[in-house]
Amino acid sequence: MSKPLFYGKQHISQNDVDAVLDTLKSDFLTQGPKVKQFEEALRTKVTADYAVACSNGTAALHLACLSLGVGVGDEVWVPAISFVASANCALYTGATVSFLDVEPLSGNLCVDDLSKKLARAAEQNRLPKAVVVVHMAGLPCDMQAIANLCRPLGIAIIEDAAHALGSTYINQAIGACQYSDITTFSFHPVKSITSAEGGMVLTNNPELAQKIRTLCSHGISKTNFTTDTQYPSWYYEQQELGYNYRLSDLHAALGLSQLDKLDDFVHQRQALASRYKQALAELTWQTSPTRGSSAFHLAIAFFPKDRRDQIYLALKEQGIHCQLHYMPIYRQPYHDVGATNYVRFPGAEAYFSTALSLPLFPDLTHNDQDRVIEAIKELI
Ligand SMILES: Cc1ncc(COP(=O)(O)O)c(C=O)c1O
Repeated sequence: MSKPLFYGKQHISQNDVDAVLDTLKSDFLTQGPKVKQFEEALRTKVTADYAVACSNGTAALHLACLSLGVGVGDEVWVPAISFVASANCALYTGATVSFLDVEPLSGNLCVDDLSKKLARAAEQNRLPKAVVVVHMAGLPCDMQAIANLCRPLGIAIIEDAAHALGSTYINQAIGACQYSDITTFSFHPVKSITSAEGGMVLTNNPELAQKIRTLCSHGISKTNFTTDTQYPSWYYEQQELGYNYRLSDLHAALGLSQLDKLDDFVHQRQALASRYKQALAELTWQTSPTRGSSAFHLAIAFFPKDRRDQIYLALKEQGIHCQLHYMPIYRQPYHDVGATNYVRFPGAEAYFSTALSLPLFPDLTHNDQDRVIEAIKELI
């Protein structure tokens, strides 16, 4: 059988290996210069004012919620289609989560649903503390419309951009936080760039940045103290309950080295996605961006509801491992809102029953991509 093809895979070059080895032989394996360099490089790349590296994208989302003061008694709204971390980050703080419907052909949150839900919540005096926005597969959400709805009501906006490093929205990189309070990234191996595990929190708000940095390292500050006393240089203060969510220098060295290749990776992904669309023009594909560009974390195609799982299995038998991103979070046993409530999310239900992510990663060769294309042509 031909070699297995997965929906995503990292690309590691010799200079990535060298960067990690150099750091391994250096004085600092963690809390050294690489983390700062990675933060600075990514912050500059996406034109945000502040960046805090952390251990993964889930920690980044948790730090975002904590820094915004999300906690017990608060509600956070989350798109129904996303990885579970987009909802769990709010639950970790003691807040509750309520789901928003998504557009069936984009997987991005439905602005109309948000608007209606906000109107109802305003009447009942139950507005959410924050809304998590997910750029599904890298497709930028309509951030301007979302900000126009949320900002006048004082609702914080967290962009979960785990899929969208390298995407743009109205001529700005996702991560610039023009229409949000905080943006988070993940550097898991299937993402635009990898640091193995890793994440980053970006913001333009200096107070939030300070809070995120402190919470990321036990709630300890080494620079801003509770009194003006002159302390010796060994002094530090724990001022709140934080976490050890720090990224190590080894991971940061890999992330930094990968960041140099981000533009190439994104172009390769975009070119491969166009090639799929041309070769399989008879399929319905995830909506194209109208006010920006997608980094194409995933290539999402839609198949008839009654055939999707059969096509998934037939491809798998040929060593082509597609994936469904995602089953609605509200259907997960832990989050389940009850089957009778699924009808409240017609967009998410339609998306869930038809979507499939095809293999897409920078190293996918045209030969391998043709294998996927031919196999799908045979099946449809
Ligand atoms: C949309 C989304 N948010 C958050 C995360 C969490 O990132 P990590 O795996 O780095 O914790 C992921 C990871 O797959 C994701 O896809």
